[in-house]
Amino acid sequence: MQAWPNVGDFRGGALESALVVTVLSVDPSRPDLRALSPAAGAMRLGGLVAFPTETVYGLGAHARDAASVARVFAAKGRPADNPLIVHLHAAHHLTDVTTLVTPLALALAERWWPGPLTIVLDADPTLPAETTGGLPTVAVRVPDHPVALALLAAADVPVAAPSANRSGRPSPTTAAHVLADLGDAVDYIVDGGTCRVGVESTVVDARGAVPIVLREGAVTREALGLDPDPGDAPTGDTAASPGTRYRHYAPDCAVEVAAVGAGAAVAARHAEEGRRVGLLGPDPAPEGIVGLARTPDAAALARALYDALRAAETAGLDLVVIEAVASVGLGRAVMDRVHRAAAG
Ligand code: TXA
Ligand code: MG
Repeated sequence: MQAWPNVGDFRGGALESALVVTVLSVDPSRPDLRALSPAAGAMRLGGLVAFPTETVYGLGAHARDAASVARVFAAKGRPADNPLIVHLHAAHHLTDVTTLVTPLALALAERWWPGPLTIVLDADPTLPAETTGGLPTVAVRVPDHPVALALLAAADVPVAAPSANRSGRPSPTTAAHVLADLGDAVDYIVDGGTCRVGVESTVVDARGAVPIVLREGAVTREALGLDPDPGDAPTGDTAASPGTRYRHYAPDCAVEVAAVGAGAAVAARHAEEGRRVGLLGPDPAPEGIVGLARTPDAAALARALYDALRAAETAGLDLVVIEAVASVGLGRAVMDRVHRAAAG
């Protein structure tokens, strides 16, 4: 009888030497399990699979396989001390990767999963340090995307998945973005179309009695029942998500934030100086300016932002002007990304 190769055998063989990436196109509303099964099988055996979620595309690897997770860091060029989010297909698997599910975590999971909320809890100590960044905690979420859920269920292992971009680049919201950044450093890219939300999940520490927001994201403070303006309220000893320290979301062109109502005028002024300018804002682009997307509100800006930054690069623009949205609700998470892109 032919033995099924274990992870080590397989890694030494086909996957490690694969110089091609396979793109699997699936219907996002009715994912075909047969189409997904090669990717799910590869992930169980140590392969890297990029897949769509409701927020951004993730780059998945078996969260208990240190060598696979190390390949994720290498493919992204990611600092080793920045831990990954473990993705599950159902909330009841939370006990597989954590040691203490607090009442708060249960309530949050019940309310928000599947969905763009990532919950930080005490980590199962047998998880590899590659996955947790060596922290005693682990970040976990169940994504709200039919393709992600089908893939995770078929793989039937916890999947560590950061955003599927090169570290420091805008997060990917299409399979084409993933291919452009990571190419054949990954084994499969599951193409399930454009991500619905466009900014990453909110990361909360749920070890105590009230959620502590470590990274702003798609679930707003207001929706979590928290003070919308955190000011400099104490945020606990973790202070912030390790990843929020690093340079992020920066394209290969300048980014300038314009005040509410001022986007078109600021863009026009820069164009007069002879620069090639793109605009992301609620109004139509004035003549001579590339209209990257119309963004009348925070949700529209969230959906369009990363794709527009990449489109600006491809078009060889010198500058992208982004008209601000009010920093409330989803606007706070979006403006966080916008300011980081501008700082890069
Ligand atoms: O929407 C999302 O969250 C996407 C999709 C793919 O799920 N993923 C994502 O992953 O944005 P990534 O790796 O780009 O960002 C994960 C964030 C980082 O800021 C990281 O530092 C933080 O989560 N994080 C991970 N584990 C943590 C932990 N134990 N404690 C605090 N922060 C943690
Ligand atoms: Mg990321």
